[in-house]
Amino acid sequence: MFPAHPTIKEVDLKKIFTIVLGFVMTAAMADGVDQRQILPMNEMQRNHLLSEMRMLLTGTGAILEALAQDDRAAAARHARSLGTDMPHKMEGHMDNILPEQFMQLGMAMHQAFDRIAQDAESGKDTKHTLQQLSETLGRCTACHATYQISTGRQLAGQGSQKNHGEHGAHSHTH
Ligand code: HEC
Repeated sequence: MFPAHPTIKEVDLKKIFTIVLGFVMTAAMADGVDQRQILPMNEMQRNHLLSEMRMLLTGTGAILEALAQDDRAAAARHARSLGTDMPHKMEGHMDNILPEQFMQLGMAMHQAFDRIAQDAESGKDTKHTLQQLSETLGRCTACHATYQISTGRQLAGQGSQKNHGEHGAHSHTH
């Protein structure tokens, strides 16, 4: 029935992408309106956070590329660069404006990248790293499903929209 048996690697990657895509689509199609909790930010803070995000995506791609080449040293290096010592990470600069749960989600993700690096350095195989990476991407997805950024300009335009009172609870404090 099935002409070619897929390799373990192919199965793993397909599984990862299916799971991630499933999460993303469920979140996106939940409602016509973006109901995620709003993080009020100014333009600079937004730019700072989104820059870190793009580094996370680039770094994740670099880890996958290294794994595809069976280069575990490079995979560890890229994972380390996204870990708790990640330069410019938002937690260091914006902990006074970000909600506690957001900070915890972010920190748990950085720690997960540290563990990926550690395990890859200590000789764990590619399959193990892929499994860890898959779980770590679940952390990206969980946070994205919960929060959105809004600058004051966008917030003003949303005045008529219901947002479960979070708007007031998380308004600017500084
Ligand atoms: C603690 C919360 C959190 C975690 C963890 C997180 N993100 Fe994000 N990310 C956000 C928020 C908030 C936005 C902005 C979403 C919005 O306003 O629609 C965002 C946006 C992005 C963007 C869009 C950047 C742009 O320029 O528009 C990318 C790409 C991204 N994240 C990648 C990742 C990846 C990859 C991971 C995991 C390795 C990750 N993020 C983990 C909170 C998080």
